[in-house]
Amino acid sequence: MTSFTLRSAREILFGSGTRHQLGEQASALGTRALIVCGRGAPRRGDTIAELTESLSDKGVEATLFAEVEAEPSLDTVERGREAFRAGDCDVIVAIGGGSAMDVGKAIGALSGSPEPLSHFFAGAEIPWPGHPVIALPTTSGTGGEVTPNSVLTDTDTGRKASIRGHTLLPEVAIVDPELTLSLPPAQTAWSGVDALTQAIEAYTSTGATVVSDLLALEATTRIAGSLKTAYLSGDDLAAREHMALGSLLAGLALASARLGLVHGLAHPLGALYHIPHGQVCGILLPHVMEFNLESCREKYARLAAEMGIGAEAEALLEWVKNLNGELALTESLADFGLQEDDFDRIIPDALSSGSTKHNPRPVTEQDLRELLAPMT
Ligand SMILES: [Fe+2]
Repeated sequence: MTSFTLRSAREILFGSGTRHQLGEQASALGTRALIVCGRGAPRRGDTIAELTESLSDKGVEATLFAEVEAEPSLDTVERGREAFRAGDCDVIVAIGGGSAMDVGKAIGALSGSPEPLSHFFAGAEIPWPGHPVIALPTTSGTGGEVTPNSVLTDTDTGRKASIRGHTLLPEVAIVDPELTLSLPPAQTAWSGVDALTQAIEAYTSTGATVVSDLLALEATTRIAGSLKTAYLSGDDLAAREHMALGSLLAGLALASARLGLVHGLAHPLGALYHIPHGQVCGILLPHVMEFNLESCREKYARLAAEMGIGAEAEALLEWVKNLNGELALTESLADFGLQEDDFDRIIPDALSSGSTKHNPRPVTEQDLRELLAPMT
């Protein structure tokens, strides 16, 4: 029996120049937009000015909320909800990497709710409906423009986790590869490795379906074939297009299939040691793939064949092991301070993660101790 659920933004616009359709899309959804972006975004290039103009051309007023930080906190979302209400806004435009989209989606989903954000972070159901979100990614990484979750950090407890629900799905995703052309090499590498990890984990997840497999397979080959070029030659539009499409397809795959142990560990490790998400994914990926090898031999071999690097699962493993070095990424968690004394804080969070629960090989506490110990 075949059965599956497919989740996505209501509408996806992909291609160079699609950002110019923002005003038209927004005007169909509201009259006052809250633009949610990172702190430095208004000073970097003219993208925010260009988008604001696209909105005003179609009669949509814009209020700027340029307060999103890396690993965004619950407090940032609370301030964004206040800005949304104070500006009498009715639509959100989230522009940036995963953090800006996570904050924008959380503001949109919860802007009508009186409860504090901590209520939902503790697990309360996200109400329906929220306010519509238009998401424009400027990195090829999280696929957050089409996923029903928002990763946030409670700075009081240090806990980093997702809130999740279909209200968090953006109304419109506008994926314009030209928005990624100015992304510096290090961020291109981090976000690209995140997208690659998501494609591989969605492909091998216990939640994988016939449709998510199609998406994840295409995502993996596109990302694997273009990541190094995008890293070395950031202005190569063809490579940027492959990366943007690959990360979008990986986002669509994981929105339905979920992920695996890399992401289960990445949240507690990232929160504790303040490691960029893609960086921690890159370090963990070869180790987790080795751990999963016997459960995924056939699918790893299929990926290797599609990528044109060999016919065996080991060929993919070898390729992934070399990737961090080729992208000049740190290869050791010890460099970020991983120590055995912290295992009791990391492991329970990793085991309770929905991503870990979808890992193709079941994971025990002892498995995680053995996996992490050589990395201290
Ligand atoms: Fe990720």
